[in-house]
Amino acid sequence: MHRIAVIPGDGIGHDVIAVARSVLDAVAGAYDDLALEYDELDWSCQRYAETGSMMPEDGIDTLRSFDAILLGAVGWPGVPDHVSLWGLLIPIRRAFRQFANVRPARGMPGVAAPVRGADDMDLVVVRENVEGEYSEIGGRLNRGFSDEMAVQEAVFTRVGVDRIVRFAFDLARERGGHLTSATKSNGIVHTMPFWDERVREVAEDYRDVEWNQLHIDALAARVVSDPAGLDVIVASNLFGDILSDLTAASAGSLGVAPSANLDPTCEHPSMFEPVHGSAPDIAGQGVANPVAAVWSAAMMLDHLGHAEASAHMMRAVEASLADPDTRTRDLGGTASTEEAGAAIVGLVADLAHSSGD
Ligand code: NAI
Ligand code: MG
Repeated sequence: MHRIAVIPGDGIGHDVIAVARSVLDAVAGAYDDLALEYDELDWSCQRYAETGSMMPEDGIDTLRSFDAILLGAVGWPGVPDHVSLWGLLIPIRRAFRQFANVRPARGMPGVAAPVRGADDMDLVVVRENVEGEYSEIGGRLNRGFSDEMAVQEAVFTRVGVDRIVRFAFDLARERGGHLTSATKSNGIVHTMPFWDERVREVAEDYRDVEWNQLHIDALAARVVSDPAGLDVIVASNLFGDILSDLTAASAGSLGVAPSANLDPTCEHPSMFEPVHGSAPDIAGQGVANPVAAVWSAAMMLDHLGHAEASAHMMRAVEASLADPDTRTRDLGGTASTEEAGAAIVGLVADLAHSSGD
């Protein structure tokens, strides 16, 4: 029995998480060794508006006892985005040392890729998630004067770089693929040469895995010029943030892009969430694409040790996308969130029967 903390959050987070749960239940029904129990938490901007905080003071301790966290999205007009980010998402990522942010992007049936060749793309961006450029070290001086200044330090540690690079090499090996390291050691002369050095040294332990490095600007161009030629990409916090939005957009709709915030040591719960936000512009209309949330939930099953059930779930997702009648509006279809979800649930059951389980 796995205990899952479910945080629907705000806006379309509610709609897509309801679908993810129904698909998870369908998959759990098809596998004897898979059982899930959920606790739903109302942590959100709505809670912030009512009580002054995104989550209770002991929120992190509450989450600690769960096996995983499934999150919709947080954010709402009227609540500054830094409140939802620093009041919920970043504390969770940092308290649970979710140092690997994993974002797969691949061509999916029924999803028109705006970038030529991205239909054949099948890559994973592995982003360092707890240090690097997004550090809290720095400050402001001479506020309000003409000589006002700001300093923010990028922090790269040997432990931090080595573990994310090892994680990425392991993933490339598992996929039978290759690794590309995102760097900028020609312009950033301290941290990036250090990053390159660590990659080279870690690579000694992965002589069977082909790897190369590209400067981030050239790599961004490569995503557009030869998306299918990339496999696993490892990048620092800032580079990975930007690059993974680029790869997601190149493959198609935000409505299908998933992500995982992993503590690969499994000492703390990991968190799974769609890349998209709460989409206030379509919230309450029942048109949100639930695929990104369902794919994120499939990544959760994989992380919890149920690779077969996870793959089963993804086959159902792909079959639903291949059928124009069960695609949502962002993909040119007419299905509602609920209809798209019901189709995936139905396909989970069909696939279970056809495989004889
Ligand atoms: P957004 O991702 O919510 O929406 C961007 C555009 O994509 C909108 O036009 C929206 O309708 C569309 N879209 C997003 N998800 C979709 C789906 N599943 N199906 C169909 N269309 C979809 O980003 P935006 O508008 O910049 O942010 C809205 C709020 O969400 C903000 O408060 C922001 O801070 C928050 N946000 C939260 C995230 C999180 O919880 N991890 C991530 C990104 C944004
Ligand atoms: Mg981002």
